[in-house]
Amino acid sequence: MERLTTGDTRPIGFFDSGVGGLTVVKEALKQLPNERVIYLGDTARCPYGPRPQEQVERFSLELANFLVQHDIKLLVIACNTATSFALDAIRARLTIPVVGVIVPGARAALKATHKKKIGVIGTQGTIQSAAYTKALVAKDPQVQVEALACPRFVPVVESNQFHSPTAKKVVFETLRAFQPLQIDTLILGCTHYPLLRPIIQNYLGSGVTLIDSGAETISEVSTLLDYFELAAPPSQEVQHHEFYTTGSAKLFQEIAHSWLQLQDLAVTHVPLTELGGKPHAS
Ligand code: DGL
Repeated sequence: MERLTTGDTRPIGFFDSGVGGLTVVKEALKQLPNERVIYLGDTARCPYGPRPQEQVERFSLELANFLVQHDIKLLVIACNTATSFALDAIRARLTIPVVGVIVPGARAALKATHKKKIGVIGTQGTIQSAAYTKALVAKDPQVQVEALACPRFVPVVESNQFHSPTAKKVVFETLRAFQPLQIDTLILGCTHYPLLRPIIQNYLGSGVTLIDSGAETISEVSTLLDYFELAAPPSQEVQHHEFYTTGSAKLFQEIAHSWLQLQDLAVTHVPLTELGGKPHAS
């Protein structure tokens, strides 16, 4: 088979219910600097956590469709809730590689734990789906998993309050309920949570290793790009990334700018009426 020598300059698509997936993008910018990113956050319909599976699946298919129309070469579902509920449906419809965040996060946690006692925090949807527990136990039946839904975390992040005293109060009050602190490893099972990481670490102490599933996911993306010969060619130029949100472009821009530290970060509003339909092509 002939090998690609020029590389594939098409972008990698990312979606999330809001700004959370930017924590995954941040890793992509670090680990894959030659790659171009196109991101869609469904801020208008955030949070996804409390929504029923059927709705999360439908919304996720709409977001995937939007990105496919922008000629992406690989799709990252940068949302644990959408990965839990829609990964199979999206994979069934696309011919490009589709990567979720759950299995990479589970794999990293198993690598980190010494006591085989792993905690998982996530949205109601992710925790109720037991996606992490299933992924962990499938790889190691000896492992003990303690899971906790943290529905108050996402609104704190989406309102750009993740450095505030409110954030500390919410994190401390929520994690207090997480009693079985025999765990030595905690999976941040929602892509919004790494923005609260310093506060979570402060509460749990240095004896607990926090796992950012987004970071692990990008290592998997890097492997897949090489395997499928989809990696972009080396480039000295600054990549032109595109960011879209169904909500306020201004608020999204503020959070994205402070989190990603990118110059010239432009955010475009996409009305919900422009989404719709199901992905059908590669
Ligand atoms: N960031 C998302 C996740 O990883 C979803 C948060 C939400 O919309 O509830 O689950």
